[in-house]
Amino acid sequence: MFFKDGRRAFLKTLGLTFGSLKFFSLEKKADASWLETKIKEIENLDPLDVAQDESFWFHVQEAFDVDRSLINLNNGGVHPAPRLVMQALHRYLDFANAAPTVNSWGYIRTRREFIRQKIAETFGCSPEEIAITRNVTESLQIVLLGIDLKPGDEIITTTHDYPSMKNALFQREKREGIKVKLVPFPYPALNKQELVDCFAQNITPRTKMILVCHITNLTGQIFPVKDISQLAREKGIELVIDGAHSFGHLVDQQKDLDCDIYGGNLHKWMMAPIGTGFLYVKKEKIKKIWPLFPSPDPQSDDIRKFEHYGTHPEPIWLAIGEALSFHHTLGPKRKEERLRYLKDYWAKALAILPGVKILTSFNPELACGLGSFTVEGRDMLRLSQILMDKHRIHTTAGILPDGVPFMRITPSIYTTLKELDYFIEIISHYIKTGWSA
Ligand SMILES: Cc1ncc(COP(=O)(O)O)c(C=O)c1O
Repeated sequence: MFFKDGRRAFLKTLGLTFGSLKFFSLEKKADASWLETKIKEIENLDPLDVAQDESFWFHVQEAFDVDRSLINLNNGGVHPAPRLVMQALHRYLDFANAAPTVNSWGYIRTRREFIRQKIAETFGCSPEEIAITRNVTESLQIVLLGIDLKPGDEIITTTHDYPSMKNALFQREKREGIKVKLVPFPYPALNKQELVDCFAQNITPRTKMILVCHITNLTGQIFPVKDISQLAREKGIELVIDGAHSFGHLVDQQKDLDCDIYGGNLHKWMMAPIGTGFLYVKKEKIKKIWPLFPSPDPQSDDIRKFEHYGTHPEPIWLAIGEALSFHHTLGPKRKEERLRYLKDYWAKALAILPGVKILTSFNPELACGLGSFTVEGRDMLRLSQILMDKHRIHTTAGILPDGVPFMRITPSIYTTLKELDYFIEIISHYIKTGWSA
C-alpha cells in the first residue's frame, strides 16, 4: 500500500526509488519537510476546523508558483500543479530528452505500472481496472463510442453534461440511429432523490446507457452516483460517470460510488501535469468496450488495450506520482473541506446582495468547491470580462441550457481569503453601480 502512511510514503515516492538511474538527476528529493511539519501540527484536528485555519493554509498556498498578479478563480478549467510536481516534471523531461528512446521508452515507460497502481489505490480499485489517458474526454470517448448499441437504443444524459461527451452521443445518433435523451434537473437540487428521479422517470425498456457527471461543471451539482448506480443496475443499464471534477476534489472512491465505469481527470483537482487522466472500468466489463485506438486484441480484458495512442510525453505520467503523493500528504478530506469552505465563503457573501442567486447548493452532500451565481437580468459574460480587464480577476461565465446567464467561481487550496475578499468587494461594487453590457 503506497498511502498507508501518507507522509513517509510521500517522501519515499518523491525519491521514486530510481536506484539504477544514478547518472541522472531523477533521484533528487523535493524538500517537503515544511509540509510534514505543518501536517503534524494539525493532524489530529477535525478537517472541518482545519478548513478555517488560515495559518495552516498559508503554507499550502506557498507550495504553488502561481501568478499572483491575477486572482485566478477558474481552477476548475485546468489546475496549476504544485511546485514539487513541476520540479519533478522538469527533471523527468530533461532525463527523457537526453536520449528519448532509451530513457523514455526504456526507463520511464517501465514506471507506468507504478503510477497505475498509485491511481488505483487512490480510487480504491485494482490496477487492472485503470487505463492512463490524456484527459477525461479521451477516457469517456473510449466508452461512449466503444460500447455496441443498436438503432433505437436510448441513452439518457442531462442538459448540463459536458459538450464533448454529448457530441460523442449525438454523433452516434446521426451515424447509428441511437436515441439521445437530454433531461433537465432542478438546480440547485433540494435533495438527492430529485436527481435520481430525473433518470428514473425517463427510463424506458430501450434505455441502454446513462451518462452523468459526478460534479457538473456548470453549477457544481453533485449527483448521487451510488443511488443512480443502483437504479441502473436494477434495470440492466450501463452507467458511465464523468468524474472530471470529482477525482481529487471529493474523497469518494469506487466503493462509495458503486460504479462500473468512471472517467477521471488528473490535471484538474488532482493537480497533476496538464495532459493526464484515467479511465476506470470494472474488470468484467473491459472485454465489451472496443478501444478508440485499436490494439492487437481489441476484445481482450486487459485494460492496457485502451492505451495504444502512439508516441506521447511519458515524463508527464511519471509526475502524476508526485501529484498523488502531495494529495495524500495534504489529506484528501482536509482538501475537500477547504474547497467547500472557500465556496461557502464567497457564495454566502454574495447571496445577500440584491438580485444575486446562488445556483449551487449549500448542502455538503450536494456541492463542494465549485459554485456558480447569477445576477437577475444582467449580462454575466460582460461582468466576467470587466473583472478580468479592469481588476485582473479571472472567472468563467456563460449561459446555462435554460437561458440563465451565470458566472462560475472555482478558487482552490492556493487561493487566499484576501483574494476572495477582493472579488466579493468588486462584485458588490458592480451590483450597486451596475455595468454596461
Ligand atoms: C464535466 C466535465 N467533463 C469533461 C471535461 C473535459 O475535460 P478534459 O478537457 O480535461 O478532457 C470537463 C472539462 O472542463 C468537464 O468540466
